[in-house]
Amino acid sequence: MTASTLRPQQSQQLPPGPRLPIGVQSILFATQRHRLLRVLHRRYGPVFRFRVFPERNVVSISDPADIKEVFSGPVTTFHAGEGNQVLKPVMGEHSVLTTDEDEHRRIRTLLTPPFTGAALRGYREMVAGIAEREVARWPVGTPFRSHDSMQRLTFEVILRVVLGVSDGPRLDELRHTLGGVIDISALDIFGWHSQRMQRYGRWRRNRELLERSDTLLYAEIADRRAAPDLAERTDVLSRLLQAGTEDDALTDAELRDQLVTLLLAGHETTATALAWTWHELARSPETQARAADEDDDRYLEAVAKEAMRLRPVIYEVARRTTEPVVVGGFHVPAGTTVMPAIGVVQSDPAQHDDPETFRPERFLDGSTSPRNWLPFGGGVRRCLGAGFALMEATEVLRAVLTRYHLSPDRDRREQVKPRNITFAPARGARLVVTNR
Ligand code: HEM
Repeated sequence: MTASTLRPQQSQQLPPGPRLPIGVQSILFATQRHRLLRVLHRRYGPVFRFRVFPERNVVSISDPADIKEVFSGPVTTFHAGEGNQVLKPVMGEHSVLTTDEDEHRRIRTLLTPPFTGAALRGYREMVAGIAEREVARWPVGTPFRSHDSMQRLTFEVILRVVLGVSDGPRLDELRHTLGGVIDISALDIFGWHSQRMQRYGRWRRNRELLERSDTLLYAEIADRRAAPDLAERTDVLSRLLQAGTEDDALTDAELRDQLVTLLLAGHETTATALAWTWHELARSPETQARAADEDDDRYLEAVAKEAMRLRPVIYEVARRTTEPVVVGGFHVPAGTTVMPAIGVVQSDPAQHDDPETFRPERFLDGSTSPRNWLPFGGGVRRCLGAGFALMEATEVLRAVLTRYHLSPDRDRREQVKPRNITFAPARGARLVVTNR
């Protein structure tokens, strides 16, 4: 396929799709999308249409050629920020995740250096140290939820990267309040978008936790602006405070939105990917033995990548169209959410041999590529922390596998449970570990 398929005049035919009431489609999407999208893919093919609240037309795509076209399409036509509107009440209107075009480019440029090249290599030792300390606490011989441990670990790591510190009473409280902000279900997400609901019960508590997190972050920003050692500091907040000229420096509100975004986007996703990694390794003794014996980091990284393929933490990404386009031969009107369906591509037998099998070797034999492996999305909106997350996963894998042998607490695999926007193991990836 070529870029010409994006020209609006070529097709007037809308993609096929189910006729179920919008309420039913919305509930199935919120709670079962890992099943729904695969069923609809089998029924209608790689391009289909469905609807979700509030009155949104969505077009799911899962042909790698179509996805590539959308990812590399004009940022003026495909708005990822608008596609991520559901995150706005928490991440804010200035977040790198919720903005588009020039505003997005400005912020993304400021945020990129701490997550690339030398900066990335510089974090390795810090991550290894935090991983060592966390996994040393695992209870030997007793079943436990490894996802909880991974959440503690990845939050420590991201606090250190973003704020440069992770101790002190303010950060202890932030750990608690932000932890509460993301520990939410599909039901909570509805509440984010309704002022009325936020006066009551769980939604009120969610709002209070977010307000408290903001107060703590604004206090941290104010202190840091005045810090005498600001120029020597290498954490993201200190770098952002020194970036740009006086005219285009980030305001406190803009800073707050990037901090919340990085803390939340960088923490829960990585914790969940690692939890699935333990879930799969515990059930694949041969792979586990090879990973424990390998000196080569490439195998450890392949293990993490294979867990992200088989158990995508984020099942799909979104781009909202600002003008009519043709995708995969179908007409897609302006205002539609086009969804590259990561989870469908990564489980499609046309894309991966034996897709239900956990086999890291597929990342070493050339059978995977950015076309059929896309847990971090793509194009100019590809995950800013992709390199960081893979480095972190490799270090944590090493810390765990040099110390422990992993077994599942039962053979049956855990169900997939939607947790805010991520898909986590329903029982917390329970493990039993023994010393090596
Ligand atoms: C395994 C862990 C992770 C997964 C699976 C993941 C996945 C994703 C996905 C699917 C997107 C959307 C991409 C798109 O729309 O094409 C994204 C965006 C983003 N991620 Fe990650 N992520 C992970 C870790 C991280 C980490 C560690 C950080 C921060 C250090 C981070 C920061 C971001 C940011 C800032 C964006 C927005 C990029 C933009 O819109 O320009 N992520 N991530």
